[in-house]
Amino acid sequence: MEYIKNRFFQKASKCTAEYQRLKNEHSDKVIAQVTIGQVLSGMKGIPALVTDTSKLDPDEGIRFRGHSITELREKLPRLSPDGEPLPEGLFYLMLIGEIPEKDDVMNISKDWATRAHVPQHAFDVIDALPKNSKPMTQFAAGILSMATESVFQKAYRTGVHKKFYWDSTFEDVMNLIARIPHIAAYIYRRNFHNDRHIEPNPRLDWAGNLAHMMGFDSEDIRRLFRLYMVIHADHEGGNVSAHAAHLVGSALSNPYYAYTAAMTGLAGPLHGYANQDVIHWMFEMLEFLGTDEPTDEQVSKYCIQTLEEGRVIPGYGHAVLRKTDPRFTAQLEFADKYIKDDKLVNIVNQLYRIVPPILSDVGKIKNPWPNVDAYSGSLLYHYGIKEYTFYTVLFGVSRVLGVMASLINDRIYGLPIERPTSYPLKWYRDKAEGEPGNC
Ligand SMILES: CC(C)(COP(=O)(O)OP(=O)(O)OC[C@H]1O[C@@H](n2cnc3c(N)ncnc32)[C@H](O)[C@@H]1OP(=O)(O)O)[C@@H](O)C(=O)NCCC(=O)NCCS
Repeated sequence: MEYIKNRFFQKASKCTAEYQRLKNEHSDKVIAQVTIGQVLSGMKGIPALVTDTSKLDPDEGIRFRGHSITELREKLPRLSPDGEPLPEGLFYLMLIGEIPEKDDVMNISKDWATRAHVPQHAFDVIDALPKNSKPMTQFAAGILSMATESVFQKAYRTGVHKKFYWDSTFEDVMNLIARIPHIAAYIYRRNFHNDRHIEPNPRLDWAGNLAHMMGFDSEDIRRLFRLYMVIHADHEGGNVSAHAAHLVGSALSNPYYAYTAAMTGLAGPLHGYANQDVIHWMFEMLEFLGTDEPTDEQVSKYCIQTLEEGRVIPGYGHAVLRKTDPRFTAQLEFADKYIKDDKLVNIVNQLYRIVPPILSDVGKIKNPWPNVDAYSGSLLYHYGIKEYTFYTVLFGVSRVLGVMASLINDRIYGLPIERPTSYPLKWYRDKAEGEPGNC
């Protein structure tokens, strides 16, 4: 595995030099204007972060190191010709910036299998929580508890030179990625299968092994999990989970701390929790309507009612995207190919026809189109993973790939502690109106 680390070092060193050169030669260059509107609407569109792993285009959607999801599904190595690409390959691409060979991907898979041993105390910490604590609470606690294993933290304490921080961060990240599926599967089996746990199978790929430890060994589910882990892995640097990990990591907190911060952000209903909220909202609708095959008119009325109650329609809208999310489309294509006539999947497709015009009519909603969360739950549900309170954990397993690849980059570039400026509301009002405000 050393060769992958060396390859990363060689590629990233050139970017580190570029980072230093830009900082030295162009620090005074103005690149954007900031409006009060941007500040007051969640800093949207302000260029302030450096993230190489992926970039989000409002119209085209996500590109991982320049490659769209469609291209990834063609180019990344897979286990069988008609299968989905392995997430191990996407990790390589995000880290190194090149499409890997199949051998590289298989080597990463084997490396993660050798690092996959979860310390017993992580399971003990999870077991100490009541079973009715949210799966994301257990997940974050399990990840945090593994900080005892941090190679970076030990290296820092022994006084390692800052130019080598990336090296021990790399080790932590590889260990964390290797162990996170077992943490997730443990929570699933604890909560929904009476603590009947399943040991990892080191011969399986990363996503296939997660499915296995959750109790699903069919090729259908493995295929779905590989797709799921690829499409959820990264969404540039400004989303809540990626930004939280970057921010916390910028204090040189260890990667376990940084990823726990990401996961507590992902647990919010406007972010990753939306993937379970979609299913919850759909079941609420079916119960309210008293049917599992509602008419378009019934669905339409229910959507309007949701909006009138001051609630959001989960799975629709986005802070950056302005078209249908290609991650939604990838899942739709998957369903078209592999799933015939599933009631929940049919309703997702029905909502895709009905919701966008309703949201457009509201006027203020910038993106009426579906995002990734609108589809994912129905696919999991179809294949028998019906415990939807668990779905955000699966998102969290996938997101570790992109967010933590970025953290290694942060450390090799030597990005400083993040510290934007804040002002009282009055300051903005004075700026806008040129006279002293009252509050
Ligand atoms: C993703 C999301 C948080 C983006 O928020 P945003 O960047 O503030 O989006 P907008 O600028 O379009 O929001 C403008 C208004 O439309 C509302 N809006 C946006 N999406 C909406 C939706 N799906 N249903 C109802 N209202 C919505 C916002 O709440 C906001 O209302 P306000 O002015 O009363 O505060 C938002 O679209 C949302 O809450 N979607 C549902 C949850 C979801 O699917 N999250 C997963 C995202 S991947």
